[in-house]
Amino acid sequence: MDLESLKKECLSCRACALCETRNKLVFGVGKINAEVMFIGEGPGEQEDRKGEPFVGPAGQLLDDMLEIIDLDRSKVYIANMVKCRPPKNRDPLNIEQEACAHWLRDQIKLINPRIIVCLGRIAAQKFIGEDFKITREHGQWFIKDGMMIMAMYHPSALLRDSRKRPEAFEDLIKLRQAIRDYCTDTY
Ligand code: URA
Ligand code: SF4
Repeated sequence: MDLESLKKECLSCRACALCETRNKLVFGVGKINAEVMFIGEGPGEQEDRKGEPFVGPAGQLLDDMLEIIDLDRSKVYIANMVKCRPPKNRDPLNIEQEACAHWLRDQIKLINPRIIVCLGRIAAQKFIGEDFKITREHGQWFIKDGMMIMAMYHPSALLRDSRKRPEAFEDLIKLRQAIRDYCTDTY
């Protein structure tokens, strides 16, 4: 199985109710063997329209954040916890996250990143621990299955509350350092 065939299979998924309301399924974008992978929550309105993750306002900010540390979409991989948009951008339900988890699990297996960056609490609670507190534990590194994992504030949270931006900047600098220390060909 390669990433393209996984995507093809995923595009026809109807394993949870979100398939009823989606326009386009949002599988993920980026480099097939990226060393750094970003994981968001789920598609919003623009993403659902275009079939690509982080293309709305939060995505604009994510692109700016990547640029600060000399990254762009072609050097990393970006995916979401759920591939179809939850109506009115509500949090994905547990049952939806569980139904969708195997797609992301297989994406991670195939991409085999060294570093995973969880964007926001929803991804962090899944990848780091269910009691994860984003305000207290963002920017900390955790090791799991041989990968380094960190959570940052979700770009949407940074749009809602710009006072969080200095902390997000510090986390980006930590990410850049980890890439220098542990990645071989990201820059
Ligand atoms: N928010 C997310 O978590 N993911 C997207 O793809 C867009 C906005
Ligand atoms: Fe399938 Fe995930 Fe979409 Fe639900 S959200 S239909 S599990 S791809």
